[in-house]
Amino acid sequence: MTLSLATTAPASTACDALVVVVSQGTAPRVLSAGLSAAAERNVIKDLRTLGATGSSGEVTKLPGVTGIKAPLVVCVGVGKTADDAEIIRRAIGNGVRACTGLGRVAIASPAGRSLECAMAARLAAYSFTTHKGRAVDKSSLPAKRLTLLVAGATAADRAAVAQANTVADSISLVRDLVNTPPNALPPAALADAAREAVKGLPVKVKVWDEKALKADKCGGILAVGQGSANPPRLVRLEYAPAGATASLALVGKGITFDTGGISIKPAAQMDEMKADMAGAAAVIGAVRAIAALKLPVKVTGWVPTAENMPSGTAQRPGDVITMYGGTTVEVLNTDAEGRLILADALGMAAEESPDLIIDVATLTGAATVALGLRITGVMGNNDSARTHVVEAADRAGEEAWPMPLPADLRGALDSATADLANIGERFGGMLSAGVFLQEFVPAGQPWVHLDIAGPAFNAKGAYGYTPKGGTGAAVRTFVQVAMEMAAPGPKVSKATVRRPAAKRR
Ligand code: BES
Ligand code: MN
Ligand code: ZN
Repeated sequence: MTLSLATTAPASTACDALVVVVSQGTAPRVLSAGLSAAAERNVIKDLRTLGATGSSGEVTKLPGVTGIKAPLVVCVGVGKTADDAEIIRRAIGNGVRACTGLGRVAIASPAGRSLECAMAARLAAYSFTTHKGRAVDKSSLPAKRLTLLVAGATAADRAAVAQANTVADSISLVRDLVNTPPNALPPAALADAAREAVKGLPVKVKVWDEKALKADKCGGILAVGQGSANPPRLVRLEYAPAGATASLALVGKGITFDTGGISIKPAAQMDEMKADMAGAAAVIGAVRAIAALKLPVKVTGWVPTAENMPSGTAQRPGDVITMYGGTTVEVLNTDAEGRLILADALGMAAEESPDLIIDVATLTGAATVALGLRITGVMGNNDSARTHVVEAADRAGEEAWPMPLPADLRGALDSATADLANIGERFGGMLSAGVFLQEFVPAGQPWVHLDIAGPAFNAKGAYGYTPKGGTGAAVRTFVQVAMEMAAPGPKVSKATVRRPAAKRR
């Protein structure tokens, strides 16, 4: 689906429903631009009749508003602050989700909000029916056509709509991959999906199969994958436009299903571990979007992917494995597998010395304990890069929060037998995982780590523009970071990189 832009007046636009943004005051007020004074008055009159206030999250359906051509006006509230980008996005999302089963839905944008409205409308109009065998009730499907109404649209509005369509297409793909059942998406299929995702774009793809992984000594990926009948893979995507002014490497955890391995997980909600490849999917989606937007930044995407299964060939607690680069790791818990596959890929990505490496992973349950289910934890070895990523996430409409990598946690990762153990201190589990990953990033290489264990998968109901299931978390942040790296201005300085924590006891 694409969203189109039109400049027709909202009141005279032919459509099945018109979404109008309203704010809250002594009476509700119309925030959407381009409605005539008479049309606004009639909307407000009907809202007041129903007792609607325009509060944030409110959705009020008005049939047959006098002076408005659309048979249905869907009013979405933003509360008293009329200038919060995320509140506007969520309101538009709520409005579009209230229009399931309809044909053409028009959205009247508030002035200067075309990007937010276009993005939110597209992200809200998502469904995943690939695996439905029986006919799906049409009334539950998103509206077929979306039109954004921007009176006097400029070139910037057209560019915003094009950008929103490109990024939303990639996010839909990421959600599809995350929602795909794990039996339909083993590592080889995820590698194929990566290839397919960038077809027709100037992106080079290289895939390591299990033989190539052995030849290149990717001991972490191989060890995690050895318990599964579906062998592991590593994918490298490269978008290197002529005239690139910066380079970014993205590394995503691609566990297609995480049973925990021999350190097996409890049965409850284990099905959600099909989403343990959400980091990998986000990297694939981001490379696709950045290449399609033709951003002047070199981007490499690294996707280590394996299935973490218990079996007669699975790795055991106590095994010592040798990672890419030669570091040995004692696997004390086979459920701490994400860091093992990421270690190999981080080591490889760092050999190319990009300006910045960002890895993204559904890495720890501890991240959800610390930050809840909607906020990404952001760690790194470079304070300015970490701050930049947190702020870029906010500008893109994603929630992220900085987290430390305490040197004090490093000691607990010591192993009597190997260089490192894969688990450490129980408290601060999100941070311990980050401290482990940091061991595989050379000093002087700016690196940021995103733990998306919470926001990658929405097991509860849809809200705003976020559907149930896979969310596409981190894609908008990556596109924003790439856009800002391409723009002239201060760059991440290697001089500000902190050296890996010296052990403290
Ligand atoms: N994939 C899980 C983390 C996870 C948990 C993501 C819940 C999303 C929701 C990861 O591989 C894992 O099992 N981590 C362990 C680490 C522990 C063994 C140190 C965890 O969080 O319990
Ligand atoms: Mn695990
Ligand atoms: Zn996992």
